Parts: sequence; C-alpha cells; structure tokens
Amino acid sequence: MSVLRSVVTGVGGYLPDEVVTNADLTKVVDTSDEWIRERTGIRQRRRAAPEQAVSDLAVEAARKALAAAGREPSDVDLIIVATTTPDLTFPATAVIVQRKLGCPVGVAFDVQAVCSGFVYALSTADGFVARGRAKCALVIGAEIMTRLMDWTDRSTCVLFGDGAGAVVVEPGEGRGDTTDQGLLGFALRADGSKQDLLYVDGGVSTTGQVGKLRMQGNQVFRHAVVNIAEAITAAAADAGVLVEEVDWFIPHQANLRILDGVAKRLGIDEKKVVVTVGEHANTSAASIPLAMAQAVNDGRIQRGQMLLLEAMGGGLTWGACVLRY
Ligand code: ACO
Repeated sequence: MSVLRSVVTGVGGYLPDEVVTNADLTKVVDTSDEWIRERTGIRQRRRAAPEQAVSDLAVEAARKALAAAGREPSDVDLIIVATTTPDLTFPATAVIVQRKLGCPVGVAFDVQAVCSGFVYALSTADGFVARGRAKCALVIGAEIMTRLMDWTDRSTCVLFGDGAGAVVVEPGEGRGDTTDQGLLGFALRADGSKQDLLYVDGGVSTTGQVGKLRMQGNQVFRHAVVNIAEAITAAAADAGVLVEEVDWFIPHQANLRILDGVAKRLGIDEKKVVVTVGEHANTSAASIPLAMAQAVNDGRIQRGQMLLLEAMGGGLTWGACVLRY
C-alpha cells in the first residue's frame, strides 16, 4: 500500500555570535564554572544581539534548511514556529518569518509547548504534509531564552541560551512500513497539574508583563527521566520499531545528567546520543533542530538512518518522534 510520509529534506541551525562562558556568569551571579559543569554539563551558551528578534534567528536557520533541501522561500506553503519567546504577542512569529523570507500566502502559525515545542510542531506538520495539504513545510524552533531570565536567580539564569534550528518537510511516497523515509510515529503528552514546577510569572491577560522564568529545578529533574523514557517507548511503539533499532537519539538539551539518566534507564548506548548542551546550553524549542543540524552537518547522521527526537519542558509537556532521515 502506498502512503504519504513527511520527509525531512533539509536541516539548518543558527547561533548568535556572542559566546557567554560560565566564567562570564560568575560576574553576574554567585556561581562557578565548576558548579555549572558538574550539575549540568554546560560550558557556554550564545546570546542574541540586542537588535535581534527571535524571527531573525528563525530566518537564518530557515534559509540554511531551505538551501540544504534545494528549495526556495517561494516553495514554502506551511510555516510552524515553535517558540516561547515570540517577537510580539501577535502576529505569530511564523507570519513574521513568512514576510521576512518572502514566502507566498500559505499557512503560518506558532506552537507553544516550551522545550517540547519542536516535537509538537513536527508532529503537527505531519498532519498537513502526510495528508497532502502542504508540499513544502518549514518547521522551526527558535528562542531568545536569555530575555526571559531573572538575572538575580542563579538557579535558572546559568541554564539557558539563544538559537534557532529548522527543518524542511516534504511529502514522500512510502510503502507504509518502517523502511519508509519520513516520520514514522510520535507520542505527545501534557500534564497541567505540574505547571508550578516550571513557568513564566507574567502574561498578557494576567500581569500585563512578559514575566521571568521560574523553575523548581530539582522537581523538574525528578520527572524528566521517567517522562522522557515513557515518551521514547511510546513513540517507538507508535512507529512499530524497537528502541534498539534507532541509530541516533536527539534529545532536548536541558542537562547532561538527564540525558545520561534516560540513556541508562532504556539501555541506550551513549555513543548514539547527540549532545550539544555543553556549547549551546538549554535553547528550549531550538535545541533539538540545532543538535540535529550539527550532527547532519558533521556527517554523523546519514540518509536512511532512524532518528528519535525527544523533549520535556514547561507545562509540563513532553514527547518524542521517530523518523527515518
Ligand atoms: N551556582 C552555584 N550554586 C547554585 C547554583 C548556581 N548557578 N544554582 C543553585 N545553586 C545551589 C542551590 O542554591 C543549592 O544550594 P543549597 O544546597 O545551599 O540550598 C544547591 O546549589 C543545590 O541546588 P539544587 O537545585 O538542588 O541543584 P540540582 O542538583 O537539582 O541542580 C539544576 C539544579 C541544574 C537546575 C537541575 O535540577 C536541573 O537540571 N533540573 C532540570 C532542568 C530542566 O530539565 N528543565 C526542563 C527544561 S526547561 C524548559 O522547559 C523551559
């Protein structure tokens, strides 16, 4: 039986120029390079220039993804941006990206699932592409997390960074089995009862202010390994594959200890895990496509390999996608 699959045909990443090291942060809050490295694996992060908006980062990543796919902005008929740090309350950042890239009239909207945003956005794009309703989709994760930080709170401000990653998704004919190229399965979850563990304390209809990120880090940590392992198992089952068959795990990059904990729990070989948290820190919805772009560009990820993307973030939300690249 012939089926339509959502195939990733191009990947691109963008990091702002300014590098902020752990040593730099010791001048801002009472912390140390040693504490940050030992507790998180983070060595540095990037910070967007004051004149850059999140759409600027998204556009840079999108241009690279389009070039990798051999497509032009004029081909794009669907844009989904996963972000928790939009340019404006409205319009959606996706619409601003559409204008800046010069894409024609099409569908464009944002997805807000915080660090799980890219996994949510890719799964949402599948609903268009695999039903023949989009021919060339841009799925982007872009964040300027450094602008949501309380720079007096050392337990959060050392963890986050800025960046963007994008993929081009196009329909491809498959046979309906696990040898197909494209998205094979996913699992998405949300549990609003855990909102207080990780949130931003402002918003349009409450305080009228943007607010700052608040996190009970050790509580989030406790849920992370269990939730992510469950989502990985569920997504693999949805795709009809075994976790052992996955060639590359591309996790949301929050904390090296979480990545290690998940790998240990599921018996995943750590050599199969793409790790960028040391250089990028936590870039929320951007972290998965940024890590994917890095591993594609350095030649680790090859066409035909099975990838598993997974994330957990504010909400709490979490989820995973399985795709053959
Ligand atoms: N430098 C030095 N000391 C610090 C710092 C710092 N930057 N931050 C906290 N500390 C201190 C605390 O004050 C505390 O001191 P005390 O014992 O004297 O009270 C001590 O370090 C231990 O604090 P914990 O919070 O218990 O440290 P923990 O080992 O849990 O590590 C961390 C904290 C890194 C935040 C960890 O809990 C974590 O990574 N949590 C998960 C984060 C995550 O995955 N978030 C989800 C995605 S983000 C999103 O969705 C937007």
